[in-house]
Amino acid sequence: MDSMQDPVARPDRYLTGRTALVTGAASGIGLACALALAAAGSHVHVVDISADEAGKAAAAAGGSAHVVDLSDARAVDSLPADVDIVVNNAGIQHIDAVHDFPPDRFALMQRIMVEAPFRILHRTLPGMYERGWGRVVNVSSVHGLRASLYKSAYVTAKHALEGLSKVVALEGAPHGVTSNCVNPAYVRTPLVERQIADQARAHGLSEDEVIGRVMLEHTAVKRLIEPEEVARAVLWLCGPDTSYITGTSLAIDGGWTAH
Ligand SMILES: NC(=O)c1ccc[n+]([C@@H]2O[C@H](COP(=O)([O-])OP(=O)(O)OC[C@H]3O[C@@H](n4cnc5c(N)ncnc54)[C@H](O)[C@@H]3O)[C@@H](O)[C@H]2O)c1
Repeated sequence: MDSMQDPVARPDRYLTGRTALVTGAASGIGLACALALAAAGSHVHVVDISADEAGKAAAAAGGSAHVVDLSDARAVDSLPADVDIVVNNAGIQHIDAVHDFPPDRFALMQRIMVEAPFRILHRTLPGMYERGWGRVVNVSSVHGLRASLYKSAYVTAKHALEGLSKVVALEGAPHGVTSNCVNPAYVRTPLVERQIADQARAHGLSEDEVIGRVMLEHTAVKRLIEPEEVARAVLWLCGPDTSYITGTSLAIDGGWTAH
């Protein structure tokens, strides 16, 4: 083992020898997680629907790209099963009142944000159990803990992911596997940049008003979060100091849920 790979010589490379699978890793929070896990020594499987961006992200992380539509169950079941760390991160948003919400869109969001995480864990947990170590981090949201107007599918999916995460925590504990959620408020990513325009339309506000009045309305800290701040929390949950932390939801929400 050369000194770059030796976890004793390089304590910051504490995930050396581990393999991670990160969904939605071509952009935003997922990309930041892939880079952080890779920097800590892990091999990273970058999973995303966007072929060009997945290739670039995998190259940046020194990992492997898997171009998969997570709404396609058979494609999800073709992903690598032999991994030590799963970060269920991919997600999409759609803003509409329940009575206007397209039912097919609702179903699609549950497939990507609930069924795909279940399918991935269904196939990856047995290997983690066999090796006696595993880390599952589910990128939930403040909307896994609180509701907001016009986000029925998203709030439903994130609350479901919270439930899945807790059951995996209970089942995984005897096998050295932890499962947790991280729960950010608004993070500066392409998903949020698209939402600013959608929310402006739904609420009849300007884009500046959406950031100030809608996105930062409930937070005590009046700024957006950077993707790297979320990635550092995810990395911590995969690190050497958190084997007793499981079944929990780590709010990174500037005080939103303190209300
Ligand atoms: N940005 C925020 O404010 C915020 C806040 C809380 C939680 N989150 C959650 O963080 C996660 C990542 O969000 P982000 O802001 O980084 O978004 P993003 O749009 O920047 O990235 C999401 C990635 O998921 C991929 N993806 C979408 N649909 C897919 C599919 N069907 N199959 C495979 N890949 C698919 C996209 O191609 C993209 O690369 C989501 O689950 C989101 O709900 C985001």
